[in-house]
Amino acid sequence: MIEQGGLSRRRFLGAGAVLGAAAFFTLSPMSRSLAAALAPSGSPLLGFKAVPASTADTLVVPEGYQVERLISWGDPLFADVAAFSNRLSDNTAAQQKRQFGDNNDGMSLFPVDEQTAILAVNNEYTNYELMFEHQGKNMSAADVEYAQAAHGVSILTLTQQEKGWRFDINGRFNRRIDANTPMRISGPAQGHKLLKTKADPKGEVALGTFNNCANGMTPWGTYLTCEENFNGYFGTDADLEISSEFARYGIGRKDAGYSWYKFDQRFDLSKEPNEPHRFGWVVEIDPRDPSALPVKRTALGRFKHENAELVIAQDGRVVVYLGDDERGEHIYRFVSRDTYNPTNQDANRNLLDEGELFVAKFNEDGSGEWLSLCHGQNGLTAENGFANQADILIHARQAATFVGATTMDRPEWVAVHPHEPMVFCTLTNNKNRGVADSQPVGGPNPRAENHYGQIVRWVPTAGEHTAKDFQWDLFLMAGNPNLYGGTPYAGSSNITADNMFNSPDGIGFDQAGRLWIQTDGNYSNQGDFVGQGNNQMLCADPKTGEVRRFLTGPVACEITGLAFTPDQKTLFVGVQHPGEKGAPSSFPLGDHTVPRSSVMVISRTDGGVIGT
Ligand code: FEO
Ligand code: CA
Ligand code: CA
Repeated sequence: MIEQGGLSRRRFLGAGAVLGAAAFFTLSPMSRSLAAALAPSGSPLLGFKAVPASTADTLVVPEGYQVERLISWGDPLFADVAAFSNRLSDNTAAQQKRQFGDNNDGMSLFPVDEQTAILAVNNEYTNYELMFEHQGKNMSAADVEYAQAAHGVSILTLTQQEKGWRFDINGRFNRRIDANTPMRISGPAQGHKLLKTKADPKGEVALGTFNNCANGMTPWGTYLTCEENFNGYFGTDADLEISSEFARYGIGRKDAGYSWYKFDQRFDLSKEPNEPHRFGWVVEIDPRDPSALPVKRTALGRFKHENAELVIAQDGRVVVYLGDDERGEHIYRFVSRDTYNPTNQDANRNLLDEGELFVAKFNEDGSGEWLSLCHGQNGLTAENGFANQADILIHARQAATFVGATTMDRPEWVAVHPHEPMVFCTLTNNKNRGVADSQPVGGPNPRAENHYGQIVRWVPTAGEHTAKDFQWDLFLMAGNPNLYGGTPYAGSSNITADNMFNSPDGIGFDQAGRLWIQTDGNYSNQGDFVGQGNNQMLCADPKTGEVRRFLTGPVACEITGLAFTPDQKTLFVGVQHPGEKGAPSSFPLGDHTVPRSSVMVISRTDGGVIGT
């Protein structure tokens, strides 16, 4: 790791100071009143005993907590479907289309009644080394079909049973959406020439969703699933010249090893050059209607989406915060044209089709602003290569660069505090910071060759999420205080030998305002990461800055996806890709079974509220 960049102490507000006396006083007068409002009150927010770092092949929760398995990759979603087989060649596409998908990621819970709820869960991708006996080295058309069926979204009916919330295989909401499920393209890019293909000459109906990373939910009861690394599924063996537009999104002749383009022509760039434009969107799903067509909402822009954090502004407009997870990419905000109607949910059906997309610019002095990506504004005109709004949305990254957005250290999830106008975004890591000319050290990205990541926080002017400006600070910087004491790579002062981690990714608030942090980082437990163990989930108090480790995951997993029941007594957590790349895991079933991504159910043995 190279020497620290110019980290300004004023821009980094350490623990204890976080939102305490010194913190927001350096920001705006508005923030000062916020600091007062958030001053620690009597009872501490975090009440559980921290768990130590772990390298064990199991999920470890605090004393007084219990953990059960809800569902794993390949488990049937319907009573007439075969179970997953540890003899891999037994598993088929036809079964997988009706089984829980692979690599569960973001998820949201939709209460139905006292005894019933719906859990919508993303199934991001596949690990061929765990899926096929040939480990992906000898792919066939049937294998590709199986892999495609393992992607997308699983909708699960949950029922409250004697032992707690469990999956109901006979539930009426159970559904699989995969890489071939028809979905409507909606919003400004619908019907654009770049979205037209041989199979869909109108550019209005796409097949499927894949690489569904994180998620969001709307107050009108729909699920938002976000398409991330869609580029890796496209490729060609033809001698095709790759455009700069494709290159900006990482689309090239070589795919990420999935081999879809070899057996399914729509993924061959030489056969369907517009197919990649139909991915990289946020997709809205009605989880209560298993026959409803999912809808790709193009007004939210096309990039490598992480989650979609939705909040209703004071004036009733819908604000959606969005991260684009790539080194040096950006943070976006969508503001709807129309307002949310709480008394007529049908009226909200197309709220995400009309509105304005913005991208964030962070200034060194702690201020920031949202730059409009509206056609005709900020030089986004035909003369400058942006023909119309659809063109801007399809090429959101290029438009963001054009208007001068700040390059970030891989924006992952965004979370809005439930009671205060404060927004948090994980910046997971960025080995290119300070190395690539386009990614200078500074602002909310203060460390060169940043292997640890940080969480940036901003407060919109006057507490209004539609405001043009905001004030920002760093809520925490991950690091390794054992190795790098006295330097920025130790992390912020709220990071200690007892809670250290790297690569914050999934974040979300519970109702009380605890900030839950999940990691997708280096789990080698060596070098820069010695002492940090497996990936984990932590809990932070946004008032005091305290960070406490809540759980540790099994070998080679990522912890991603979280959802609480309304009573806050049950927490669903995702364990993704245990045992990837041949690492020795047989999570969750043990006994040398195939390691399988799983959703776990966590509760307290005394039935209390999680985290207290
Ligand atoms: Fe799917 Fe950026 O994590
Ligand atoms: Ca992620
Ligand atoms: Ca991830």
